[in-house]
Order: sequence, then C-alpha cells, then structure tokens
Amino acid sequence: MHLRICALLAIVIVGLVGAQASPEAKTVLATNNEGVAVTYGSVLKLMHDTTNGRLHASDIRYNAGGPQYFVVTGHRGVVNSDSYWVVKPVEGSSLEQGDLIPNGSVVRLQHMRTNNWLHSRSFPSPLSRNLEVSSREGQDEDTGDLWRLELVDESEVWMKDRKIRLKHVVTGSFLHSHEMTYVRVLPRQMEVCSVGEESVDNVWLASEGVYLQAGSAATPESVEK
Ligand SMILES: *[C@@H]1O[C@H](CO)[C@@H](O)[C@H](O)[C@H]1NC(C)=O
Repeated sequence: MHLRICALLAIVIVGLVGAQASPEAKTVLATNNEGVAVTYGSVLKLMHDTTNGRLHASDIRYNAGGPQYFVVTGHRGVVNSDSYWVVKPVEGSSLEQGDLIPNGSVVRLQHMRTNNWLHSRSFPSPLSRNLEVSSREGQDEDTGDLWRLELVDESEVWMKDRKIRLKHVVTGSFLHSHEMTYVRVLPRQMEVCSVGEESVDNVWLASEGVYLQAGSAATPESVEK
C-alpha cells in the first residue's frame, strides 16, 4: 500500500517537473496570458479605433491616375467579407507564414478576395484632401504598398485587439479614417486616407480573422513579452 502511494507520488512529481521544463508548456501559458499574436499569413480585419469601421476594399475605382486603384473605406458591417486582408512580408523576404511581427516591421496587406494591395500615393483623397488610400491591382512590386508597423499598446510583437498604427513607408503618413462618409456611391462608408500627423484617428486593431499560430522561428521569449 505504502509503496504504491510512493510510486504514484513519484509519477506526479516527475509529471510536474516535466511540464515545467517543456518549452511547449511555457509557450501555451504565455499565449494564454497575452492573447493572440498576429503572424504573417494571418487573414484579418483591421478595425478603426474611433469609428469601429473595418478597412474595406470596394469595387469602385478612383477617378484619376490609372484604372488599377480601387476605393478603400471604413465599413461598419462586421460580416462583410470584403474587409479581410492577408498580412504579408515584403517581397523576397525569408519570413514565413506563422512568424511573429515585431514593432517597426514593414508589411504589406493583400485584400483576400481580389489579391489587390493596400496602397497609398501622393494623390488627394476624395473627401478630406489628405492622401489617397486604395487597393491596387497588379502583382508587380510597388513601394507604395509598404507599411511600417508601429505598436501603440506596450508589446514587442503585433497582437490581436491591441492598438497599432500603420505608417506608409514612401510618404511617411499614417493609415487614417474618420466620420467623413461617402453619400452616393458608397453610402455610409467612411473615408480612409493617410495623414502626416499622429492622432487618435490613425489607430487600428486587428479584430476578426484567422490567426496562424506562431511558427518555429518564434522563441518562447518573444511570445512571452
Ligand atoms: C514602436 O516603435 C515606434 C517607432 O519607433 C515607437 O515610437 C513606439 O514606442 C514603439 N512601440 C512600442 C510598444 O515599443
């Protein structure tokens, strides 16, 4: 009887030590505490913090500067599937699906249905005359598709439901939205543009989506913080 209890205890103790030493167990705990990481290859909606609009690509083209630029808006309809974007690294990067995205990373957002790229350029936006933001058709590389991640909430990597800014690399302006709404062609959808000054209106959060698990490149340390 005594021996059997001792053996049982020994098994329990070995089990506990084993669990503590295992890196998998550590990662799972850290993820539970910190939430869900946004990784390359994840499909997500970007929610604008002050209006709750989701970054949305329409089928409407801008008037000027070529037919390949489609209007991007803030859309309050949560179920709308044209608000899904895939997070991609820069072209030619060795980063892989599932890799974590540290502060300062340059990323591209590819619209899920059309494969177009979130883009900005030195054209005036239609309503506020800031800079135009579009979804750009074409598979050629374009520096106007590059956005630098700036984490607002304290963290080392991009996390779901945490505040971020996206700074357009070429123009240095921030992805921005506000209560200025289109009336005729895109009723009740809000203008998305990019602006030079940091403000509460250029804060976004990764919301609904499919978040790929952090891959082998992720160390437990980087997940933990
Ligand atoms: C992210 O980087 C930006 C720009 O370098 C910096 O201003 C900001 O404080 C950083 N965010 C965090 C959470 O460290």
